[in-house]
Amino acid sequence: MIVAIDGPAGSGKGTVTKVIAGRMGLINLDTGATYRCVALEALRRGVTLEEKEKIVELVDDLNIEFKHENDFIRVFLNGKDVTSEIRSIEVTKIVSQISSIVPVRLKMVDLQRKMAEGKDVIMEGRDIGTYVFPNADIKIYLDADVEERAKRRYKENMEKGINTSYEEVIENIKIRDENDKNKEIGALRVAKDAIIVDSTKMTIEEMADKVEEIINKKWER
Ligand code: DC
Repeated sequence: MIVAIDGPAGSGKGTVTKVIAGRMGLINLDTGATYRCVALEALRRGVTLEEKEKIVELVDDLNIEFKHENDFIRVFLNGKDVTSEIRSIEVTKIVSQISSIVPVRLKMVDLQRKMAEGKDVIMEGRDIGTYVFPNADIKIYLDADVEERAKRRYKENMEKGINTSYEEVIENIKIRDENDKNKEIGALRVAKDAIIVDSTKMTIEEMADKVEEIINKKWER
């Protein structure tokens, strides 16, 4: 059973996915985290965005694992916990471009499909319902106005002690939206059979209730 949750940054995907995984006993898979690991390793090695071949090469040295602790996922890169580091502003600034490199995408999609094998999962990303799992049982596209998405991300950053201005956050989101929508493979778009949920005016609780209702309608247990 695969539930695909796609949508732009700040749409509430991550939060809703976590809540639903806990409520419904699904495994939570955050595909953005896999691209963030590649971006982090590129930064650590001093590889720039122009050095595409080096970026593709370094992917083969990465072992990415998710460890689930209750409803919290920890992300491990080559055995080290990088859960916080992959959310840094430096990683966030380059991750969309990293994820546009076709050979990087192909390798990450392969990994994401393997991670879901034989499990009941709720998987969040940009291209889950369109590319990674075009036959997913349930597809939801979560959206919200860009100002609201930036507000949420800014608040989240403040809570985590990541120091950025609101202007910087909204600018980054707009650039990522554009880049994510124009990818050669796995571009951000609504799958034909996806249900669109506009979360602009919804609380987390309301979003989760809506998503749970959609899943319950389709999932016969
Ligand atoms: O969801 P996120 O913000 O952690 O994702 C980070 C970046 O990774 C995002 O800008 C686009 C990219 N991404 C992608 O291309 N495909 C996915 N399935 C998930 C994320």
